[in-house]
Amino acid sequence: MDVYIPLFFLLVTFVLSSLQFLFHKSKSGAALPPGRTGWPVIGESLEFFSAGRKGHPEKFIFDRMAKYSPSVFRTHLLGERAAVFCGSAGNKFLFSNENKLVQSWWPSSVEKIFPSNRTSYKEESIKMRKMLPNFLKPEALHRYIGIMDHIARHHFADGWDNKKEVVVFPLAKSYTFRVACCLFVSIEDPNQLDKFAKPFNLLASGVISIPIDLPGTPFNKGIKASNFIRKELVAIIKQRKLDLADGKASPSQDILSHMLLASDNGEYTQELDIANKILALLTGSHDTASSVCTSIVKYLAELPHIYDRVYNEQMEIARSKATGELLTWEDLQKMKYSWNVACEVLRLASPLQGAFREAIEDFTYNGFSIPKGWKLYWNTNSTHKNPEFFAEPAKFDPSRFEGSGPAPYMFVPFGGGPRMCPGKEYARLEILVFMHHLVTRFKLEMVFPDEKIVMDPTPIPTKGLPVRLFPHTLI
Ligand code: HEM
Repeated sequence: MDVYIPLFFLLVTFVLSSLQFLFHKSKSGAALPPGRTGWPVIGESLEFFSAGRKGHPEKFIFDRMAKYSPSVFRTHLLGERAAVFCGSAGNKFLFSNENKLVQSWWPSSVEKIFPSNRTSYKEESIKMRKMLPNFLKPEALHRYIGIMDHIARHHFADGWDNKKEVVVFPLAKSYTFRVACCLFVSIEDPNQLDKFAKPFNLLASGVISIPIDLPGTPFNKGIKASNFIRKELVAIIKQRKLDLADGKASPSQDILSHMLLASDNGEYTQELDIANKILALLTGSHDTASSVCTSIVKYLAELPHIYDRVYNEQMEIARSKATGELLTWEDLQKMKYSWNVACEVLRLASPLQGAFREAIEDFTYNGFSIPKGWKLYWNTNSTHKNPEFFAEPAKFDPSRFEGSGPAPYMFVPFGGGPRMCPGKEYARLEILVFMHHLVTRFKLEMVFPDEKIVMDPTPIPTKGLPVRLFPHTLI
């Protein structure tokens, strides 16, 4: 009989919250956005994740836009009441009301995997953003191009050259991870990189997962991986403090030095805080960019006419360089067509499909009431894959980005407003450096032309994208 008691309470909660939804009217008299809240507790989380895992994350959004409202619909995700804002107007509203009507919110899974002495997401973000400018300022970025190029040369020599076939996704991960470890924490030793790489692979899947902390779940593996990496990072941080004090490390050598010198009291908690920030940065930066690099290889292998134009642009730059001369800022500015191709990849296969905000007060949007505390989701797909904003959205067409490109709030792979990705320019550089080395070396052919792409949580080919390589010297 006892087992029925929790079930009974779940049922009562479900019925009560459904009634509240049905009859809710705000003070202004507006109704809640139309939609459904799904099952008790889990809401529509399973449908949300399963659309992504089947490779069609937009289906969850478009089905509901068609059924309920093209501007905003209500749902229940990750244990929270939520509204999904759609179209460029929805993006504009959320991006321009940051800290006025809404603030950033991450699911509890993120809090468990990246715990901190967090007072609020807003304060954490302010702290992080204060530390980043020195690291991401234009002079620093100019300097990184040579380092990225140096790493890419070694990466292609070790992982791609003299191979008939490679599996792209793990290689792309290894490239972006190597770049991040070098620029963020000055780790270049392959043994140390290997030690870190595996737990990092488990982190991202854990972050965007249903937060069930049981042995074997992606969430549980993510927490264990994050604990392991944090411990290693704290050891690196302690050593760096000693090296900075002894003059053996430079204050500007990487983001770790920047962060240590930006903090005022070097207590253990500070070290843990810095370890968490580095952990978040390493995860956020390399998983996103590696997914883009992988998707770029896929599209270049599939579309020879696009490949040829990228190849011509990159070869012109390659021919203008002396043997062994590293790429420069000026070279990257010439990679206009290649960046348009990368943008089209970012449109069709955005690494982050969207992010959450929380309503910090009651407000109305498009005539619908949004109660304080609701979680609000902006997403790339409601514009990127919507014919209202991009004609023939399934067509790969880099010319969409020529001239002034898409109108504001339509193309949002890096978000928008005050929370827009601060690593956008860094990502552009490492992606272009990757494209340069890829196309100047090889022509490509997919081993499985119909290989499926699923969200885990970034777009990932199910077989890792094996491709055949045809070096230019042999063509
Ligand atoms: C192609 C690669 C990347 C994509 C598509 C991407 C995308 C995004 C998006 C959409 C957001 C906004 C989330 C929101 O609205 O809440 C974001 C935030 C962020 N990104 Fe990126 N990102 C990329 C690479 C990077 C890199 C390389 C770095 C660091 C060097 C980075 C650091 C950050 C940070 C720190 C935030 C949080 C900003 C805040 O909360 O104020 N990202 N990113």
